[in-house]
Amino acid sequence: MRIILLGPPGAGKGTQAADVCRSYGIPQISTGDMLRAAVQEGTSLGREAKAVMDSGGLVCDDLIIELVKERITQPDCANGFLFDGFPRTIAQADALRDEGVRIDYVIELRLEDEEIVRRLSGRRVHPGSGRVYHRIHNPPTLDDRDDLTGEPLVQRDDDREETVRERLRVYHEQTHPLVAYYSAWAVQDGSAAPRYLVIDGRGGVDEIQARIQTALGG
Ligand code: AP5
Ligand code: ZN
Repeated sequence: MRIILLGPPGAGKGTQAADVCRSYGIPQISTGDMLRAAVQEGTSLGREAKAVMDSGGLVCDDLIIELVKERITQPDCANGFLFDGFPRTIAQADALRDEGVRIDYVIELRLEDEEIVRRLSGRRVHPGSGRVYHRIHNPPTLDDRDDLTGEPLVQRDDDREETVRERLRVYHEQTHPLVAYYSAWAVQDGSAAPRYLVIDGRGGVDEIQARIQTALGG
C-alpha cells in the first residue's frame, strides 16, 4: 500500500499516520521528521534546512526529492509506505510521477486555519520517540507516560505563532495546488491515478482515525 497524506501544517498528519502505518505494516516517511533528524545530527543537509524550517519556508525541491528517492529504496518499503508531508510542491509531485512511483491513495486531511493555529500552539513533542501530543486535546496517557522515561515534552521551534502563520501562507501558495493536481488526475485517468479521498480533519483523534479507516475500506 502506497499512501500520500496531504494537508496543511497541524492538520493531524503525523497523529493519524501512526495508526494507518500500523494497520498496513508500512513505514511512515515524514520528510519533516527526516529533516529534523538531520538538524539534530548536524549534517550538511541539516545545516541547510534549519534556517529555512525556522522561517516557515520550504526546503528546496532537489534536496527533498533526493532524500525521498533514497529512502524508498530501503528494505522496509518493500510493501509500501505512507508519505507524510511529501510531496509539497508540484515539482515534487511531478518528480514522483516521473520516477514511476505508483500511489494507491492520496488522503487529503482538511482543516480550517483557525483550528490549525489552536492545535499548533498547544503541540508538544517527545524528543526521544518523536511522539506528538497536545497540551490540552491529546495529552500523554498513563501508558505513554511510562514510556516517556522522564524526558520533558518540548515545543517545536517552528510552532511560534508568526512562523505558523508563514507556514500556512506557504501551504496555501505552494502545497494546496496539489489538491487540484491529484483530484483532477483521479478523474481524468482512473487506472494510473491514485484514488483521492477527502477526510474531514475536525473532531477527536479517534473519530478522524475511524473516518480514514472507513474510507480505506477497512
Ligand atoms: P512537517 O514536519 O511536515 O510539518 P507540517 O507539514 O507543517 O505539519 P506538522 O507536523 O506541523 O503537522 P501535522 O499535520 O503532522 O499535525 P500533528 O499530527 O503534529 O515539516 C516541517 C518543515 O520541514 C516545513 O515547514 C518545511 O520547512 C520542511 N519540509 C518538510 N517536508 C518538506 C517537503 N516535502 N518539501 C520542502 N520542505 C519540507 O498535529 C498537530 C497538533 O494537533 C498536535 O499537538 C496534535 O497532538 C494535535 N492534534 C492532532 N489531531 C488532533 C485532533 N483531532 N484534535 C485535537 N488536537 C489534535
Ligand atoms: Zn507532522
